[in-house]
Amino acid sequence: MWTWKKYSWIGLIILAVLGGQKAFAVHSSIYEPRVPSEVLEQVQEIENPFPATRERIEAGRQIYFGKGLCVTCHSNDGRGVRVPGHSPRDFTNKKWQDLRTDGELMWVLRNGSPGTGMPIRVGKVITEEEGWNAIHFIRTFAKE
Ligand code: HEC
Repeated sequence: MWTWKKYSWIGLIILAVLGGQKAFAVHSSIYEPRVPSEVLEQVQEIENPFPATRERIEAGRQIYFGKGLCVTCHSNDGRGVRVPGHSPRDFTNKKWQDLRTDGELMWVLRNGSPGTGMPIRVGKVITEEEGWNAIHFIRTFAKE
């Protein structure tokens, strides 16, 4: 028999899932910086130490589709797939691309994006240099 008591746990699970997502949705806008405000200015000034040559963009592409596993969440076209909690940003978004410096993107590769599915990559699965190359590649997704 369908009784409230018997099935109330379903409601509790739904509440827990919704509540959990709220708690994790710490970033209301994709344009908001991901780097903590105390270090933001410093981090923004860090430049990509490597030039955006064709070879480096190609090396970055291999990281993106290969051992960096970026493609599993950020998808083939850079628009991103839906992941629980917080979707990846749309790398084709020119406004987002223009707002972020390479230094900020590197901070996210080194630290992940707290409260989201974006995992630490540099120092775990890819090297610093591979990270900078991947950033050169991510820049090629920008659409006018
Ligand atoms: C498990 C899923 C997942 C994987 C794997 C992943 N990302 Fe992400 N990434 C995300 C999510 C989710 C966000 C959005 C985080 C946020 O809103 O702060 C994100 C955000 C980013 C950002 C943007 C941060 C910002 O400043 O707005 C960059 C850059 C990025 N990822 C690069 C990469 C690269 C490069 C790789 C591979 C080396 C990678 N990601 C692998 C899920 C992933």
